[in-house]
Amino acid sequence: MHKELDLIFKRRSIRKYHDKPVSAEHVETLLRAAMAAPSASNKQPWQFVVIEDRKTLDAFTEVHAYAKMLKEATLCIAVCGDKSNRFWVQDCSAATQNILLAAAGLGLGSVWLGVHPNEEREGQVSQMLSIAPEYAPLCLIAIGHPAEEKGPSERFDPQKVHYEKW
Ligand SMILES: Cc1cc2nc3c(=O)[nH]c(=O)nc-3n(C[C@H](O)[C@H](O)[C@H](O)COP(=O)(O)O)c2cc1C
Repeated sequence: MHKELDLIFKRRSIRKYHDKPVSAEHVETLLRAAMAAPSASNKQPWQFVVIEDRKTLDAFTEVHAYAKMLKEATLCIAVCGDKSNRFWVQDCSAATQNILLAAAGLGLGSVWLGVHPNEEREGQVSQMLSIAPEYAPLCLIAIGHPAEEKGPSERFDPQKVHYEKW
């Protein structure tokens, strides 16, 4: 396998973290990676909310049943998209994946926590973060210094591949 592709296979959802803050430099690198993502017509219809406040991180666990790891995470990034852009979900998903890959590259652990298209969750997260009404949260990303290790994923399934025609 090509060494340059290691990060793609190394990245796993990490849900246990040490109680050590992510440095401001790393936070900026994660956001730079996010904004390096491709987007339709290069519109970049995204905005990011960086959350480190312990009260807010804990409060997310009350509105999101599968986000309990935020009690341990020291950082969360909410990836938000401009709803008037037809491709906001795709563009923000690309930005999200870039954050996950960058986190793995920096030796951090992260996990994508789905918000959109769960309308109730979207409303609750929007309210908690005072997200502008023309934007919606695609997801929350829990991030921290990893306290668990996972091996690389091996999911290649030739049965899912079709050549020339299905
Ligand atoms: C759209 C989306 C929503 C997800 N939502 C959650 C979530 O709410 N809670 C969680 O713990 N993991 C969530 N995940 C992470 C997946 O469970 C994880 O990516 C999957 O099990 C594969 O494992 P891996 O990321 O370690 O390769 C989500 C992933 C995606 C792409």
